[in-house]
Amino acid sequence: MKRIAVLTSGGDAPGMNAAVHALVKMAAERGVETLGVRNGYDGLMAGESSVLRLTDVDPISAWGGTILGSARSKDFRTPEGRRRAADALDADALVVIGGNGSLTGAHLLASECGVPVIGLPASIDNDIGCTSTAIGVDTALNTIVSACDRISDTARAHRRVFVVEVMGRQCGYLAMASSIAAGADACLFREQGKDSTTVIRELSDVVRRGFDPTRGKKRVLVIKAEGVATPTGDIVSALQDMVDVEVPGVTVRATVLGHLVRGGAPTYMDRMVAGRLAVGALAALAEGASDQMVGWQPWDDDGIETRDPSVTRFPLTTMLERTDALLDGSSETTRRRVKMMEAHAGVLAI
Ligand code: F6P
Repeated sequence: MKRIAVLTSGGDAPGMNAAVHALVKMAAERGVETLGVRNGYDGLMAGESSVLRLTDVDPISAWGGTILGSARSKDFRTPEGRRRAADALDADALVVIGGNGSLTGAHLLASECGVPVIGLPASIDNDIGCTSTAIGVDTALNTIVSACDRISDTARAHRRVFVVEVMGRQCGYLAMASSIAAGADACLFREQGKDSTTVIRELSDVVRRGFDPTRGKKRVLVIKAEGVATPTGDIVSALQDMVDVEVPGVTVRATVLGHLVRGGAPTYMDRMVAGRLAVGALAALAEGASDQMVGWQPWDDDGIETRDPSVTRFPLTTMLERTDALLDGSSETTRRRVKMMEAHAGVLAI
């Protein structure tokens, strides 16, 4: 192996740069050159790449976003696009850093075109199978919690209910984890499968109890995952109508954190995970492995052990199956997440 290529794809995630940095360093140590492909699969198809020198990547671990650029490519979804990408690849192997859509592309490139490909999970959504966390999740959670702390300051000053909507696509993980850390009174996530009437009835109860005069509470914080079907605006109107009658003086506001949560310098955790996954990727390529993802996960029967006890490789097909199960609710992980949140819903509201 003389030269590897690396690309970042899909929604950017803090820590992508740290993974690129670690790859370039590890490769250099083995005498392998690293090509940086611009703008994800679009850049791969167009042959847009250049050699990444150590000096190019020296400061980037501390930076959010991705210096390589990213894209959600339409053309790469076609077999012709993937053939073009395989033909344009000017390296012995490719490392793809991205979320489940990007890793699906990595699998197709490896299986259809015979390109040696290793994937690294990177997505703030934490919706990827075979990895307990993905690059970017920890930073996103820290950003959400710090935003909720600030919102709580102003909410308490005005006796307000705040509904904070967070990203996560179809996965409620960011909402669930942040609601515990931010001391939210309620958490809404798609996996609960509740209809709008139930959502509004239950939240109304939380707000009534929260502002009960015997409790002296000054704010009610609701963290809502973006995948929940009931629009945030509808929740705000319904709650405002209720408090106008039952809890006069209380007002209801909403903040959609949106892309704010995707930016910023990666935390220690994301840099550390990115670095160790990158080490796993290079070791995999050196062994001649392909069509695999390096996950932040202890070894299990479907995985391939690595030297790092927290890192296991999985066939991309296994990762894709487990991702589907994570999102359709049939996986044990999703079932446990939902059960845990339901069991503690009352505690959140105390
Ligand atoms: O997958 C990452 C993510 O940030 C999701 O949480 C969100 O739904 C989506 O990407 C937003 O995509 P875009 O940046 O294209 O608006």
